[in-house]
Amino acid sequence: MKLSYLSKFYQKSLIERWEALVSAGVIAEDDASDMNNHLQLPNEIANHMIENQIGTYDVPLGLGLNFLINNKEFVIPMATEEPSVIAAASYAAKTISHAGGFTTTVHNRMMIGQIALKDVPNLALAEQVLLKEADDIIEKANAAHPSIVNRGGGAKSIETRIIEANDTYDSPDFLVVHIHVETLEAMGANIINTMVEAIKPYIEELTGGSAIMGILSNYATECLVTSTCRIPVHLLERAGYTGEEVRDRIVEACQFALVDPYRAVTHNKGVMNGVDAVVLASGNDTRAIEAGVHAYAARSGQYRSLTKWTKAANGDLLGEITFPLPIGTVGGSISIHQAAQFTKEVLGSPSAKELESIIASVGLAQNFSAIRALVTEGIQKGHMGLQAKSLAISAGAKGDQIEKVTKQLKQAKNMNLETAKALLSKLNK
Ligand code: MEV
Repeated sequence: MKLSYLSKFYQKSLIERWEALVSAGVIAEDDASDMNNHLQLPNEIANHMIENQIGTYDVPLGLGLNFLINNKEFVIPMATEEPSVIAAASYAAKTISHAGGFTTTVHNRMMIGQIALKDVPNLALAEQVLLKEADDIIEKANAAHPSIVNRGGGAKSIETRIIEANDTYDSPDFLVVHIHVETLEAMGANIINTMVEAIKPYIEELTGGSAIMGILSNYATECLVTSTCRIPVHLLERAGYTGEEVRDRIVEACQFALVDPYRAVTHNKGVMNGVDAVVLASGNDTRAIEAGVHAYAARSGQYRSLTKWTKAANGDLLGEITFPLPIGTVGGSISIHQAAQFTKEVLGSPSAKELESIIASVGLAQNFSAIRALVTEGIQKGHMGLQAKSLAISAGAKGDQIEKVTKQLKQAKNMNLETAKALLSKLNK
């Protein structure tokens, strides 16, 4: 890729951006000649994806730039309706790329299926029997979905958990069987649900209990990814603050989000601005990722920051994020949604592990950008420019009127819709 073609990308027209992507070798020439076709979801397909379908709902698709992840450059498609998110991610990624980029680790990539049992006559004995028959259980689970086994994946191990009766919720003792499944490139919900439903009667037979359900767990603690970065202080100087001051303030911002749940939620919301945008653009399930990530943030019993920012012995700023990221690169709507196919091409057809690394790095970049701004000049300065643009569009500005009204609005005493309308009508006179 020759990513220098993408410099000043934000200043280019839409057509120029597509041309630049071809020149940079990010997409093929054919793709650019038929741009809308690559992104639009035809009603015919949408109608098969959901029920009672009446249309499609568009969200802007943009590109996160300047990402260097494990020494490889990435142009990252991000689908989001929120102004500033893509600019912030790209800006952070630029600083971090000057410091060597992101380094990631995919710790494991197993999905979890659960079978919950009640009325188990002897919990300890049932656990022993399950563990003794583990190979048999795994074999039966794999027999229910042989194609994943043929491709080298499948059920690999089981785990048991006893959840004791809880008076507050009037709940009985539960014996829970977890089956760990390697789903390869898929997120694997269907694979897992097929397996757990197939082995449910056998698990009941082995334990003497009654299964209340068998289902995938979205709390994918066996599918964790970490992204890290290391930024020297000379890259952090900003808005009248020295690099050391910015570093120390970022560390404090993180400490605050580690100890105060009110701040942690907003801090992590900023992380998810980036994460969700890539998850959505790649055709993955944003709700599954959100649910799992927030549960992980609360794993200590208190909801805390997903990221950690600390000072290294040599004074550099160290950033780290770890969370569950059970995404896929095939299956679900990915294979039938042409925008998801297109974004995969832009990313260079990454493996699921590589996509996890990309998404985690975007989350870390997004958080870095937000807290760097928050602890220095604040975020409103940057946001107001984009807010002005939204107001200009809401007031009815079209074409080059948008930039003209935006510019005047930024200097106006009151930045609101009324002023935007007044400026537009003055322009039209
Ligand atoms: C806004 O969408 C996200 C931020 O509030 C995140 C943060 O406060 O860290 C800027």
